[in-house]
Amino acid sequence: MPEEVLPEEVLPEEVLGVDGISVSRSGRRVLDDVRFSIRSGELTGLIGSNGAGKTTLLRAVLGLQPVTGGRVLVAGRPRRRRGRLIGYVPQKTVLDPDVPMRARDVVALGLEGHRLGMPLPNAQRRLLVDRMLRAVGAQEFADARVGHLSGGEQQRVLIAHALVSRPKLLLMDEPLANLDLRSEQEVVDLLARIATEQRIAVLISAHDMNPLLPVTDRIVYLADGRAVSGRVDEVVRSEVLSGLYRHPVEVLRVHGRVLVLGAPAVSAPAVSAPAASADEGVRS
Ligand SMILES: Nc1ncnc2c1ncn2[C@@H]1O[C@H](COP(=O)(O)OP(=O)(O)O)[C@@H](O)[C@H]1O
Ligand SMILES: [Mg+2]
Repeated sequence: MPEEVLPEEVLPEEVLGVDGISVSRSGRRVLDDVRFSIRSGELTGLIGSNGAGKTTLLRAVLGLQPVTGGRVLVAGRPRRRRGRLIGYVPQKTVLDPDVPMRARDVVALGLEGHRLGMPLPNAQRRLLVDRMLRAVGAQEFADARVGHLSGGEQQRVLIAHALVSRPKLLLMDEPLANLDLRSEQEVVDLLARIATEQRIAVLISAHDMNPLLPVTDRIVYLADGRAVSGRVDEVVRSEVLSGLYRHPVEVLRVHGRVLVLGAPAVSAPAVSAPAASADEGVRS
């Protein structure tokens, strides 16, 4: 073979392929020909302001949101239904203080539904749950009521819940919203470590890319239902984002933070034209 072939174990596997997805809701185009792919061991930020379409996109990936065009490939195959390959933590998951469950019970619930009526022996369930509680650093509060835990601790438990069935892809919808700065940092570091250690693909939605920048160099940037994806330095450029927004915006880097100035606050009316080609080199 003419080109250099890497040994198989170092070739990152494409875990998720989003292939030209479009979604309409109430007659309005909410996602328009969105395409990107993510690979095992990678953490990717799904960035966009409120109403950009992040939740709709994650739900389309899961098969919870019907699409009007395009397809979703999971581990190289068309995704037929939500299976055990995908773990999901929905937006604004808040556990009520009165829920009579311990952290470990919530994690154990993640084991249900995947074993097709063949319950695992209790000892084995406990082993898997304990292992996952340790992996997310939640062993200290494993027996506490979930509703009494802090926001950051609850996120750890929810991540463990989503991961205990060993998916290949983890989707997190705004896990950093409502966390204080320190918890935000801890959750970001945890997700980055999990992506590497467990060789899974992690897709995290956020309205601010800054907390994710230390651990990811790939993002999918959504605006008005259209996307550009690639490395941060390829995507987060004034000319690329101006093309995406169809409006002049400016990207500033100040004290290590990225600011996107001038983005329209309110979504434009219905998208009917095909996505502008912001920068061909940016799409992956
Ligand atoms: N049930 C719905 N029916 C019609 N439009 C909806 C519905 N839910 C959300 N939308 C619209 O879809 C767009 C994307 O929403 P969403 O995916 O929730 O964005 P994000 O998660 O980025 O904030 C928004 O313009 C929103 O108004
Ligand atoms: Mg959302």
